[in-house]
Amino acid sequence: MTRLLVAIGFGGGVLVGVLTWLLLPNAAIDSERTSAQLMDVVMWGTEPIGGPFTLVDHTGTPRSDKDFRGKVLLVYFGFSYCSDICPTDLQSVAAAVDRLGPEGEKVQPLFISVDPDKDTPEQLKTYVALFHPRLVGLTGAHRQVRKVALAYKVYVANNVAATGSTGAIDHSGFVYLMGPTGEYLGFFPPGTSAERMVAALRPHLAALSQQ
Ligand code: NI
Repeated sequence: MTRLLVAIGFGGGVLVGVLTWLLLPNAAIDSERTSAQLMDVVMWGTEPIGGPFTLVDHTGTPRSDKDFRGKVLLVYFGFSYCSDICPTDLQSVAAAVDRLGPEGEKVQPLFISVDPDKDTPEQLKTYVALFHPRLVGLTGAHRQVRKVALAYKVYVANNVAATGSTGAIDHSGFVYLMGPTGEYLGFFPPGTSAERMVAALRPHLAALSQQ
């Protein structure tokens, strides 16, 4: 009888664990590597950058990386209530797209949230509209966001101890430049001007129009 109770208890415990894992996959998406380690990977290109993703855009439509083939992508990770670097870099991205004029139609700017709890599609809809009509905001389940952040070697630290009660998330602020087949072309460090982005984008757009 005791054995039976132990078995039921154990089985129940496993069941609860599995159900928790299935129903609450929302563990923090903190990076396992330090900011410096991930920055080195991006800076020196020691590992592949980018990869497939499945997310939801700011209109609630499911989107994958394949939806953006044939475009040059500017991919930025952040969160909508970030008061630090996100707004500045998104303004540069938006200004770069505008400065390219008709050529800019072939550039697709993407904003991927690293705080999917707060950044619902509705929240992102309001946010992306502040910067550019063609900026696409992307969010998703924690595991989906974590997967894309890992693929792009983005540093994310949801460290309440370090940021206080604001719940702000420490994150790396690179703008990734991805090519028309989803290939990684390079990155812009935080604070890059729209002019420099335009200069880097032009050769890729010229190559695209010759295809
Ligand atoms: Ni930010």
